[in-house]
Amino acid sequence: MTDGRALAREFLEQQRLLGGDSVILPELPGAPQPPAATHPASRIPSPDSPPPGISYDPPGGDLFSNDPIPQLVASCTKCRLCEGRRHTVPGEGAGDARLVVVGEGPGRVEDETGRPFVGPAGELLTKILGAIELPRERVFICNVVKCRPPENRLPQFDEIAACVPYLFRQIDIVKPKVILAMGGTAAQTLLNTKQSLGALRNLMHRFRGIPLIVTYHPAALLRNPNWKKPTWDDVRIARRLID
Ligand code: URA
Ligand code: SF4
Repeated sequence: MTDGRALAREFLEQQRLLGGDSVILPELPGAPQPPAATHPASRIPSPDSPPPGISYDPPGGDLFSNDPIPQLVASCTKCRLCEGRRHTVPGEGAGDARLVVVGEGPGRVEDETGRPFVGPAGELLTKILGAIELPRERVFICNVVKCRPPENRLPQFDEIAACVPYLFRQIDIVKPKVILAMGGTAAQTLLNTKQSLGALRNLMHRFRGIPLIVTYHPAALLRNPNWKKPTWDDVRIARRLID
């Protein structure tokens, strides 16, 4: 098999596992061009891509018994964050969780262990969840990017764009009743906005129809304890929406 075909096949398999949209591959060079396609598959840069018009409809059904995300993430090199990681951190929790918590990206301890929110910010998150009587094991906890940014810098736009299909797929699989976006990166990514955390808090949002509450990131709370009270208020709202 040529490299182009291998690449295309790998892409299609990934789409299938992620339950993505149908894929229509572009015309071969020299052939009449179809209307501009916007799907990333149309950018597969090889003259050896399969013939045009191949479409792939993902199967329906419950994928959770065979969650594909950790495996896909473990071998993912779609962005530069793969270079410095020790472990990927796909996310973890109950497949039938009623709450999905979304952070920014793995920190040092998460990178060392492969588990989300297990460092200092994670301990605080565990306490926050305990306070609303939601043990960690009953929620699904994950991040926007699945590999640690160097020195815990903010994930960059292209890194988020590369990684976010995993997050969207996780939310589709879990189908929570509420999403809690912790910090600006999670909120802005899920709501597709550049608005500040301050502007987004205190409003009920939706992500694909699912109520979404925005609050401070627990790492920010460690730096600024004044935000604990407002966070507590936000989390209680999330709790009420779950019941
Ligand atoms: N901060 C995050 O955003 N996510 C983690 O998993 C840990 C710290
Ligand atoms: Fe892949 Fe996401 Fe890791 Fe980038 S951060 S390499 S897109 S898993």
